[in-house]
Amino acid sequence: MDKKALYQISSGLYLVSSKDNDHRAGCIINTLMQVTSSPVQVTITVNKENDTTNTILKSRAFSVTMLTKNVDMNIIASFGFQSSKDVDKFGTREVFTDELGNPYIKEGMNARLTCKVVKEVDLGSHILFVGEVVEGEVLSNEESMTYAYYQKEKKGTSPKNAPTYQEPEKSKKTRWRCKICGYIYEGEELPADFRCPICGRPASDFEKIED
Ligand SMILES: Cc1cc2nc3c(=O)[nH]c(=O)nc-3n(C[C@H](O)[C@H](O)[C@H](O)COP(=O)(O)O)c2cc1C
Repeated sequence: MDKKALYQISSGLYLVSSKDNDHRAGCIINTLMQVTSSPVQVTITVNKENDTTNTILKSRAFSVTMLTKNVDMNIIASFGFQSSKDVDKFGTREVFTDELGNPYIKEGMNARLTCKVVKEVDLGSHILFVGEVVEGEVLSNEESMTYAYYQKEKKGTSPKNAPTYQEPEKSKKTRWRCKICGYIYEGEELPADFRCPICGRPASDFEKIED
């Protein structure tokens, strides 16, 4: 199989979030899809190891917001590469609460949906949730971020538990990976004053990739 064929699948980037009692969880996904219009239903596919998945399993509800092209890359670095088990990713951001009690942010987002879980399918590593949309709102007219734009223009990557993850091809050049957001720098030496162009972290947060 030529796995590059999978790169031709178009998708957007989204922030899915949920709350169980006082615990807030959220993560970046690219696996949102509208599947029916009457009633309006969407699916999301989330890794069983994600804290967000376990929170949705308990709360039976989730919020999805759609990322814009100008979203602060720190939002992706935090919601896409850290776990809600370790940090409250909503932290000091302005947080809103939807009709079903899910937390969401408006910053860098152009629309949102509130969903109640009506079905789940066990896919092995991931769970596919079918959500009935009970609320929707347009937040801005800014253009949506596509996965292709994130990869090509922002040089963004995805971590191992994203369903679309693929092992990077082996390279003859020395490469350094940002431990926070996955950005890859190519070069024999990593300059001491280097800062990650995605999440702004210093050279000390980079590790050499041993192929
Ligand atoms: C561009 C991108 C796309 C991603 N897509 C998915 C996805 O569709 N499903 C998924 O389970 N994780 C996906 N991830 C990974 C999760 O966002 C990541 O593992 C996150 O740290 C999980 O956080 P949590 O433990 O707080 O739930 C993606 C990450 C990035 C950066």
